[in-house]
Amino acid sequence: MKDCAPLLLDWYLKNKRELPWRRDKDPYHVWISEIMLQQTRIEAVIDYYHRFMEKVPSIQALSEISEDELLKLWEGLGYYSRARNLKKAACMIMEKYHGEFPKNYHDILSLPGIGEYTAGAISSICFNLPEVAIDGNVMRVYCRVTDSDLDISDLKVKKEIGEKVREILPKESGDFNQGIMELGEVICIPGGVPKCEICPLRFHCMAHVNHRETLIPRKIVKKEKLEEEYTLFLIKYKNTYALRKRGDGLLKNMWEFPNENGFLTMEEVKGKIKNIKSIQSSITNTHIFTHKKWFMNSYLIEVSKKDPSYEWFSLEEIETNCALASAYMPFLEAIKKSTE
Ligand code: ADE
Ligand code: SF4
Repeated sequence: MKDCAPLLLDWYLKNKRELPWRRDKDPYHVWISEIMLQQTRIEAVIDYYHRFMEKVPSIQALSEISEDELLKLWEGLGYYSRARNLKKAACMIMEKYHGEFPKNYHDILSLPGIGEYTAGAISSICFNLPEVAIDGNVMRVYCRVTDSDLDISDLKVKKEIGEKVREILPKESGDFNQGIMELGEVICIPGGVPKCEICPLRFHCMAHVNHRETLIPRKIVKKEKLEEEYTLFLIKYKNTYALRKRGDGLLKNMWEFPNENGFLTMEEVKGKIKNIKSIQSSITNTHIFTHKKWFMNSYLIEVSKKDPSYEWFSLEEIETNCALASAYMPFLEAIKKSTE
């Protein structure tokens, strides 16, 4: 594995992608991009990143942003607690570090929402500190290069890999860490078949030498997700629609369509919603979270009177001002289609 470090560095310097947060080593830029990258693919992050930097160009701006505006910028990325933690961390940087991003690993790690991976990434990329940043890509590449059957979903294994990678970490820690991640993203890819024939590590990679690259990392059977059923009420009054804010828990403070547990029949819905002018069955959709799976059915309902326990918004207002969780987006689309 030791021989791999210089090969990887060399490959990264020649092949690294041009990414907006790589133009400088500003820790604010790297921080935001790393948190976004934990949610989705690089291509999708680029747009979110530009939009975010335009609206929230600095740590100070982030510390002052309203929660609604922040959730709106984060809409579609999921894991909204990550967005809230960004703001919390920005406030802490303003108070404790006079607005300047801390420059040592432990201070960085102490910020809300920053775990070992993110602290390692920022420390190495921005300040070239000798820290590792172990994500799924790094673990996959490590296990393949060493032809090891470790269970990478086990936290102890993550720690163990961190210690091994630390032993071979070159002084260009930031480039090395980004190089191994990038190799995992574009060459030593998950799922399908890695592109060993163009991999800079192919002569040193034990899994490749042993023709075992597709068997690694070892597949571990996942626990079943908790399944839940809901009925959504897409309630229309004139050209406005009913929304309410979610309370504590999953998707805290995001907007949602009024809903009830279970799949309700149309008769049952008629018993629950007042002043119905018309009702029709609308779409169903499934949404998968980390630990949960939602099955949702919906009804499009027109009412002759506003129920004041909901907030009422036009479609334009919902799209521009309300952070509606991604789980509900298909229903917003169904409403739009119904008005065409
Ligand atoms: N994936 C997540 N963070 C990354 C980074 N800094 N470089 C390459 N790939 C990444
Ligand atoms: Fe991954 Fe293949 Fe490269 Fe080994 S040779 S690190 S399996 S891409």
